[in-house]
Amino acid sequence: MDEAHRLKRLPPYLFSTIDALKEEQKAKGIDVLDFGMGNPDLPPPEHVVQALLEAAQKPEMHNYSKWSDDTEVRFRKAIANWYERKFNVVLDPEEEVVPLIGTKEGIAHLSLGLMNHDDIAIVPSPAYPVHFNGVVMAGGILYDMPLKEENGYLPELHKIDAPILHRSKLMFLCYPHNPLTATADLGFFEDVVKWGKKKEIVIAHDLAYSDFVYEKDYRAPSILEVKGAKDFCIEFHTLSKSYSMAGWRLGFAVGNKKILSILKKTKSYCDFGMFKAVQEGAIAALEGPQDYVDKIVKIYRKRTELFIKGINQAGWDIPMPKSTFYIWAKIPPRFHGQSSLDFTKLLVKEGGVSVAPGTGFGEQGEGYVRFAMVQDEKRTLEAVERIGKVINMPD
Ligand SMILES: Cc1ncc(COP(=O)(O)O)c(C=O)c1O
Repeated sequence: MDEAHRLKRLPPYLFSTIDALKEEQKAKGIDVLDFGMGNPDLPPPEHVVQALLEAAQKPEMHNYSKWSDDTEVRFRKAIANWYERKFNVVLDPEEEVVPLIGTKEGIAHLSLGLMNHDDIAIVPSPAYPVHFNGVVMAGGILYDMPLKEENGYLPELHKIDAPILHRSKLMFLCYPHNPLTATADLGFFEDVVKWGKKKEIVIAHDLAYSDFVYEKDYRAPSILEVKGAKDFCIEFHTLSKSYSMAGWRLGFAVGNKKILSILKKTKSYCDFGMFKAVQEGAIAALEGPQDYVDKIVKIYRKRTELFIKGINQAGWDIPMPKSTFYIWAKIPPRFHGQSSLDFTKLLVKEGGVSVAPGTGFGEQGEGYVRFAMVQDEKRTLEAVERIGKVINMPD
């Protein structure tokens, strides 16, 4: 039995190599400190769990969820209201909002719904993996758009050749950026929308980390705040990070009606939506008190500051990230002969600390590793100590 060619075209899933190593260390009795996956460790808001529990007791919650069902209608309205409150973007809940079983699912299905075999998708490198893996699975052609430090990790759109643009159908963007932690301001999105006009390229912006910003006086904007963006842009958002609901699988796409109708149609052949009680929890999260969000951002920030201070003292020079709950770190000079995967393996084997290798996010990630700050302060400090020993061990 052989897998399909489209699966063979996918880059190796580096996280499974690391998972295997982690398990090996655990089997030896080592308490592995896991900074690999961006899997929030904090509990979701109590009132959200309560809403789920109450809803789960109602008989009408348990059949297939339909677009016209009361819960779905209220969920889409809650998303539209949330967007208006947060970004001052007005959305029609019927045509400009599509709920998703997590944004990862929606991003993959967007490529499936849009890409023909000779279409190109312009995807930044590094990127969150489904931005490029979804294109490959859909049979499209990838065009890597490198994000360089000297440009503040913003793309150089004007450098993309006309023949590439001519065959391109889709482009992904993501600010605040995972894994780079870079941010973009409204001026950048204005330039993108101006550039994208009349190009017949769908621009999909992933705004998963809009709440996780650490710079003073900075707010992460929605691309839809730009006039004319709705003509060819959509945006993905998720409850996984801001409300620590990653396991609930709750995301949504908003923006251009036509693009969303394609996404909705693709999904209609693949899934039946979400458990309605889960959607009730989502409504409670979006419509309830929002102080929770500030509280968890402060927690992630404190962990990040502790880590950065400690790791710099241990001799690994890493700057404080601008956003997200990640740290994107250049491998220390002493280890420059090693690939990011080898260095990741070294940290697990010698330090019992698991991180994500930079190349898991594309070729441009070589030479870097990513830390997800999903361990409490005590374990974060323990990790700093262990990593300090590894990077300073005698030759
Ligand atoms: C940039 C980005 N987009 C999307 C996702 C996935 O979100 P969801 O849990 O909604 O599928 C993640 C998760 O880490 C992410 O980092």
